Amino acid sequence: MTRKRVGVLISGRGSNLQALINACKKRDYPAEIVMVISNVQQAQGLLRAEAALIPTLTVDHKTFPSREAFDAALDGALKEAGVELLCNAGFMRLLTAGFVESWRNRHLNIHPSLLPAFRGLHTHERVIAAGCKISGCTVHFVRPEMDEGPIVAQAAVPVLAGDTAETLGVRVLETEHRLYPHALALVASGAVSVQGERVVDTNDQAQVPLFSPPMP
Ligand code: GRF
Repeated sequence: MTRKRVGVLISGRGSNLQALINACKKRDYPAEIVMVISNVQQAQGLLRAEAALIPTLTVDHKTFPSREAFDAALDGALKEAGVELLCNAGFMRLLTAGFVESWRNRHLNIHPSLLPAFRGLHTHERVIAAGCKISGCTVHFVRPEMDEGPIVAQAAVPVLAGDTAETLGVRVLETEHRLYPHALALVASGAVSVQGERVVDTNDQAQVPLFSPPMP
């Protein structure tokens, strides 16, 4: 089995990166992480990558004169590492349309809500304020608009009585850690593909079923 060469973009804690690192340790997993890039020098995720002996790089956006120049540096580093598939995992920079287009359908993001609801920041606060009964997380292909693009996989998380943004956030994050490896495997193995801005089963063009993460 040839594994897809994956690059991961982070800005902070890197718990989703850790989930992907753990998944890639499995012998039959269809992807390997070959490069982790952070735009923040102190990102905890860089230490996680180093511990797993994955090459890391900091590309500090503050040292570039424009978004285009920053994105060009990212792109160059990813190409040099032979990255085939790119995963945003808590990467807090908006990328230029040019960069996004050049990675079209090879670039994933995870977001802590059931998109297209609750794009942007502070999702759990807003989910609770809206009185939603179900929240969750989404892995989607990246498009130039923030938190938009064909949905690869989603998992639902119930909003419980008495939940705060923190308690709901913890349960959603645990679910993210199971959803992202699942979604990356679907894409890296070629089991799913994008057809007219929807993600379908590559074999029969059917809708990809809901992911029900196994209980820990
Ligand atoms: C996650 O909730 C992810 O969905 C969002 O940012 C957070 C990153 O957390 N995009 P971590 O850095 O992976 O721990």
